[in-house]
Amino acid sequence: MKLGFLERCYVNSPLRNLLQRPLELRLVTTLVAFPKGAQIMDLGCGNGAGLVGLARRVKPSALTGVDTDPAQLARARRRLMRHNISAQLIEASATHIPLPAHSYDVVTSFGCLNHVEDWQAALAECARLLRHGGLLYTLEFYRPLTANRLFRLLFPHPYPGFNHAELTDAMRRNGFTTLVEKRLCTFAGLTVARLTSNAGQYD
Ligand SMILES: C[S@@+](CC[C@H](N)C(=O)[O-])C[C@H]1O[C@@H](n2cnc3c(N)ncnc32)[C@H](O)[C@@H]1O
Repeated sequence: MKLGFLERCYVNSPLRNLLQRPLELRLVTTLVAFPKGAQIMDLGCGNGAGLVGLARRVKPSALTGVDTDPAQLARARRRLMRHNISAQLIEASATHIPLPAHSYDVVTSFGCLNHVEDWQAALAECARLLRHGGLLYTLEFYRPLTANRLFRLLFPHPYPGFNHAELTDAMRRNGFTTLVEKRLCTFAGLTVARLTSNAGQYD
């Protein structure tokens, strides 16, 4: 789902950049270490700040950013060039990513799934794209926030969204075992999960 005006301003602001790189990325990478030289996909990569952070912090062997919004991808392209980082950028929905199965060791989603109408299909797509044993890192906002009327007026989100239990249940149905579940409050949570079975996967 396309970002609303206010959220677009926020994600492209220096504040978001400041929160994402030193805080969020530090937090997620200390919870469960990224495998060395991993092939990483950032779902809903937006303006690419997360890709730059990932490139610097975990030194992946390959990096891919996926987003539906061509304007954000153009920002990401410019940012990556400025930082001299090579990454593949793909304009696609999280539910249908035109890449072969089992291509990645790590998939990250920093606030993307809560923007996807069919977020369960997006999780199935993450399971398809990961190799067995691969890791999924999500930092997501939950229904108590995203379904709030005032919040949705200011920051449009698909309704009804999901809560932490629904997200982790759907992960399990898609073959993931959760390794770390941190509820930051009822509004948001951070989950790291490993793909441990082929449930729900297809080639
Ligand atoms: C809240 S922003 C987060 C951007 C970035 N990950 C960050 O942490 O700042 C959500 C991003 O998800 C993208 N998005 C929304 N729906 C999507 C979908 N169905 N498939 C892929 N990306 C999507 C939006 O264009 C936006 O860039």
